[in-house]
Amino acid sequence: FFNGHADIWLFGYGSLIWKADFAYLERQPAYITGWARRFWQGSHDHRGTPDSPGRVATLIRAQGAVCHGMAYRITPDVLAPLDVREKNGYLREKVPLTFLGQPDKAPPPQATAEGLIYLATDDNPAFLGDAPLTDIAQQIAQAHGPSGSNKAYLLNLAQALRELGIDDAHVYSLEEQVRRL
Ligand code: BEZ
Repeated sequence: FFNGHADIWLFGYGSLIWKADFAYLERQPAYITGWARRFWQGSHDHRGTPDSPGRVATLIRAQGAVCHGMAYRITPDVLAPLDVREKNGYLREKVPLTFLGQPDKAPPPQATAEGLIYLATDDNPAFLGDAPLTDIAQQIAQAHGPSGSNKAYLLNLAQALRELGIDDAHVYSLEEQVRRL
């Protein structure tokens, strides 16, 4: 998949931001452009059930949008277990990453690298797509799966984004609505 480079920068925009249960060489906050984080992917195996699917983050193409997340430098062998875990038919894509640097270290100006993202598009069988935010919030508030409650997924993501100083209206609006339910 990545010819000529031993290491891979994996860009996490969902659970990978707050839960990286794989070995990585380093990690750095980073962003990608032209993509937006949306709770448009159904989850019937992790954060919901077939009868009551949850919703998790995926990326949609959006001109002018910026999606912040966490980039992990990994060796290629780490991808195999990830491919198994993300067995819900996620696609892999290469994207240009821009690093923000460590909180305690100034990043090299506009440091960039090729990154790898996993995403679910509308041809993924579990893809749900857009819905009124109140409906998405209701669905998240109700769903539970083997990985835990869908609400915990959302609140963990919102918390991790806040700690990184990232603005994300979609996630924070959902968090506010789910907290009120
Ligand atoms: C992510 O956090 O980037 C992610 C996690 C699971 C599947 C796809 C993406």
